[in-house]
Amino acid sequence: MALEQEGFKIINNITWQKTNPPPNLACRCFTHSTETILWAKKDNKRSKHLFNYGKMKEINGGKQMKDVWTGSLTKPSEKTEGKHPTQKPEYLLERIIQASTEEGYIILDPFCGSGTTGVEALRNGCKFIGIDNEEEYLKIAKRRIEKEDGKKKL
Ligand SMILES: C[S@@+](CC[C@H](N)C(=O)[O-])C[C@H]1O[C@@H](n2cnc3c(N)ncnc32)[C@H](O)[C@@H]1O
Repeated sequence: MALEQEGFKIINNITWQKTNPPPNLACRCFTHSTETILWAKKDNKRSKHLFNYGKMKEINGGKQMKDVWTGSLTKPSEKTEGKHPTQKPEYLLERIIQASTEEGYIILDPFCGSGTTGVEALRNGCKFIGIDNEEEYLKIAKRRIEKEDGKKKL
C-alpha cells in the first residue's frame, strides 16, 4: 500500500520460500518460512521495465518462471567476510539481477547490508552503488565486492 500511495505499480509479489527456516521455539504457531520480494515500477507512461522472460524460462528448465522461489538460507561459505543478521543468499540476487537487468546497467541498493547485490552485480557485468547506515556492514560489503573483483581479474 505504501508503494502504491507513492505512485508505484507492483509488477510482481514474489514469495521466497525457505527450505531450512529457523525453528519456531515457542511451538504455538506455524514456523515462519517465507519472505516477500516486491518488484515495482513508477506508474507513469514513461516508465518501462525490463523482464528477461527467455532467460528466466531457460533457467527454469523450459517452463515459465513462477513467483514462488524456493531455496535454502544463506550458506556459511557466503559469510566468510563477516556477520550480517539478514544476509540474503547469492542465488536470490542473481535471479533478480538476471531477470531485470542487462550488462552495463547501474544497480542501486539503498539498504545494501553485506553487499550481496554488489557481488551479483559484478558477476553479471553491472555497476553497483550501495548505501547502508551501519559502517560495519559497509566494511563487509566492501570486502566481499573486492574479493569478487579480484576473482574476475585473475
Ligand atoms: C535486510 S538488510 C539488507 C541485507 C542485504 N541484502 C544482504 O544481503 O546483506 C537491510 C539493511 O538496511 C540497513 N538500513 C536500515 N535502515 C537504513 C537507513 N535508514 N538507511 C540506510 N540503511 C539502512 C540495515 O543496516 C541493513 O543492513
